[in-house]
Amino acid sequence: MPLRVRLTLWYGSALALVLIIFSVVLYAITARNLRDAVDQSLEETATTAVRSLEERGFLPLIDEEELLSQFPELARIDKFFQIFSPSGTITIRSPNIKQHEVPLSRTALETTFTGRTIFESAKYPNEPQLRLISVPIIYRGNLLYIVQVGTSMESIEETLHRFLILLIVAMPIALAVSLAAGWFLAGRALRPVDAITLAAQRIAAGDLSQRLTMSTAPDEIGRLAGTFNDMIGRLDTSFRQIRQFTSDASHELRTPLTVMKGETELVLRRPRPLEDYQSVLESNLEEIDRMARIVDELLFLSRADMGEVKMESLPVALESLVEDIHRQATLLGQDRNIEVVLGTVMPAVVQGDELRLRELLLNLVENAVKYSHPGGKVEIALVTNGQHTSLSVTDQGIGIAPADHARIFDRFFRTDDARAHTKKGTGLGLAICSWIVESHRGRIDVKSDVGHGSTFTVTLPLAPRSA
Ligand SMILES: Nc1ncnc2c1ncn2[C@@H]1O[C@H](COP(=O)(O)OP(=O)(O)OP(=O)(O)O)[C@@H](O)[C@H]1O
Ligand SMILES: [Mg+2]
Repeated sequence: MPLRVRLTLWYGSALALVLIIFSVVLYAITARNLRDAVDQSLEETATTAVRSLEERGFLPLIDEEELLSQFPELARIDKFFQIFSPSGTITIRSPNIKQHEVPLSRTALETTFTGRTIFESAKYPNEPQLRLISVPIIYRGNLLYIVQVGTSMESIEETLHRFLILLIVAMPIALAVSLAAGWFLAGRALRPVDAITLAAQRIAAGDLSQRLTMSTAPDEIGRLAGTFNDMIGRLDTSFRQIRQFTSDASHELRTPLTVMKGETELVLRRPRPLEDYQSVLESNLEEIDRMARIVDELLFLSRADMGEVKMESLPVALESLVEDIHRQATLLGQDRNIEVVLGTVMPAVVQGDELRLRELLLNLVENAVKYSHPGGKVEIALVTNGQHTSLSVTDQGIGIAPADHARIFDRFFRTDDARAHTKKGTGLGLAICSWIVESHRGRIDVKSDVGHGSTFTVTLPLAPRSA
């Protein structure tokens, strides 16, 4: 069932319930008030009658003319009155009650006998209800008369009946009008949802450049549209990255393949001395090594993406790691006369995976050596500060343009300067580094001056001391 229908139905049911309760209460209160008013008026008339009788010294009235001249208000057609003797027989009654007898009920007789006033309702067939008040007149402890005043409830019953009809007719009309209004409002409120659905369909059809052009009001719909747009934005970016990544990866793998194919074809064109074959095979082995490395790294990264790479979480003493890597890097730098030195090295223990941390540091130092000029200097330092330790690798090499600072951590990204500087490298090293740093809840930052050198700083939280 569409939301709009459901909303309207819910709203309609709630409203109908409210209307019914409201009408019932209103009807009950009105009926009660009208009946109370009748009782009050009966009581007033009875009081007047009793007072007049008192003024006459409680003498019974003789005839109707006298009666009516005594109690002019009794002449009003809507009320009649009777006076009973203590035994319950009628002494006098007003003329407008001639049609039939209205005897004093047993309850009325008993109640008035104890000196109390009583209200009663009486019903005769084919006639409107009667309302009666019976008042005892007591003189010196003796019941002298019982005065009864009565009135027909006809007009009140009619009023209530008309009111009931009004309610019964008005209620469905009110309900219908509000349902129509509810239907209209629900439609209006849900219109942006339809727009979102349409846009989502277009996006699902493959057009990730689509965005919702809704109001950016901070209401529910605005927030939904905003969230939706953010989500599409992120999807768009990651799809772009995946496409870029695939094309980069194919490209990186095709280059060595092309080289190998070319060399192999060339050497097979005619018979050659053994050394030629040997040198081609050697060169091919190099390319195969290179491809194997790329494939290994890609495999590692994709397993890391899927959360399948297990990380140890053990205390690792970084200072000894730094000293180890320093020895390795010294060998690396020897060929090109690059000096690798240790700066400040403070003791620092972090919680993590020693092999990964070693790989991280080695990647950074390799980069520093690789992108240094011959005769340059690379410095490794380890500084502890409060809860954190900073591991930095500084070189005096080619540097990185500020615009590329964020992109060097992307897979396969290499700066043009780097490509011009050396053919070696695939651009996966820093992507792996940044993953390792992230899974150690750390941060990696780069500061660099083009042509003057770079500093890569890894900040890691120290292991809790108690461990
Ligand atoms: N110390 C550095 N000095 C200058 N540029 C650097 C330095 N370290 C990294 N870069 C830049 O960042 C890019 C990415 O580095 P990354 O280590 O990911 O790849 P790579 O060194 O080119 O290849 P490899 O996958 O073999 O490490 C490099 O190509 C280079 O442009
Ligand atoms: Mg590298």
